[in-house]
Amino acid sequence: MFLGVLYLFGIVVFLWCMKALKAAQSLFLAYMAKELPNEKPDQLYGPLRYIMELGGKRIRPLLALWACEASGQASEKALPVALAVEAFHNFSLIHDDIMDDAPLRRGAATVHEKWDTNTGILSGDVLLVCAYQFLEEYEGDVFKQLTKTFSETARWVCEGQQMDMDFPNQKTVLLPDYIEMIRKKTAVLLGSSLKMGAIAGGLSLAKSQLFFDFGENLGIAFQLQDDYLDAFGNPETFGKQVGGDIIENKKTYLFIHASEHLQGAPKEALVAYFESQPENSTAKVDAVKDLFQQAEAPRAIKAEMEVYLARAFTALQGLHLSETHEQLFTDLAYYLIQRDV
Ligand code: IPE
Ligand code: IPE
Ligand code: MG
Ligand code: MG
Ligand code: MG
Repeated sequence: MFLGVLYLFGIVVFLWCMKALKAAQSLFLAYMAKELPNEKPDQLYGPLRYIMELGGKRIRPLLALWACEASGQASEKALPVALAVEAFHNFSLIHDDIMDDAPLRRGAATVHEKWDTNTGILSGDVLLVCAYQFLEEYEGDVFKQLTKTFSETARWVCEGQQMDMDFPNQKTVLLPDYIEMIRKKTAVLLGSSLKMGAIAGGLSLAKSQLFFDFGENLGIAFQLQDDYLDAFGNPETFGKQVGGDIIENKKTYLFIHASEHLQGAPKEALVAYFESQPENSTAKVDAVKDLFQQAEAPRAIKAEMEVYLARAFTALQGLHLSETHEQLFTDLAYYLIQRDV
């Protein structure tokens, strides 16, 4: 009887969360449709609209809207923040796909594949400028705090991306270096989406920082899952090229764990693969994935994700949100680390 009631309660909470998620997403999409530039030249703004309208999970806008609402204001107040962080995210993806030589994004051609590299550079640049312009809806101290947070985040992302670019040429990359790299390239933007949503919602800077801490830890777990999926995701559903990190010799958690735990011939083989870039990469990707499995790297990456998820939940509890908002963020966190896209 008790279990039955608990089960029913679980279903009700789940349905309520799905409803809140859909409501926030459609609010965001309607605002985005209204605010995206629709100007000429097409070669500049076409790719911008292409990537922004290609979909994606819209996690960062959701974080901004919910943090604003949890801070006591209507989520509409954070719509310009939501659009700014999603625009920044998509700008970073256009340039990231050039840097990673990636053919696929969200199951479709990347901007530089559909157009060309120069188009990707410039449409990415203009999207970054638009991201700042979306914040012009705010005034006074709120505007100042938002742009300050946004700019420091943008620089961290560049620093993280540079570390990511440097790692393939470094002989050894230690786990703390890797965590610092993913913290900067990915986690801080999740943290700042929450923090900026909270600032737009009138929360003090000190309390908004707790939102950042939640998002930063969640973001580290999120990027660990991204690195796991890059090797072990289902090519039918993942939407990106599976094995892309292996092809590019990215020193992700999977590689670092495997190189620290394999010995003898398997370790030598792994290191040799990560110093090569064969024309036909299929054999390399398959062999490296086998070596990752042999070293139990998938199990280890999942355990590492749990560590950061637990830290995220500690920060979340420190916010003392209403039960419903705490539940929303908890469910979203689980969804993000269990996702397969
Ligand atoms: C992809 O981010 C880039 C990373 C930081 C891992 P998302 O997984 O949020 O991408 P979309 O927006 O849902 O496509
Ligand atoms: C992307 O990391 C981080 C940024 C875009 C800043 P990845 O290179 O792992 O992202 P995906 O896998 O291409 O989405
Ligand atoms: Mg990439
Ligand atoms: Mg990258
Ligand atoms: Mg990736």
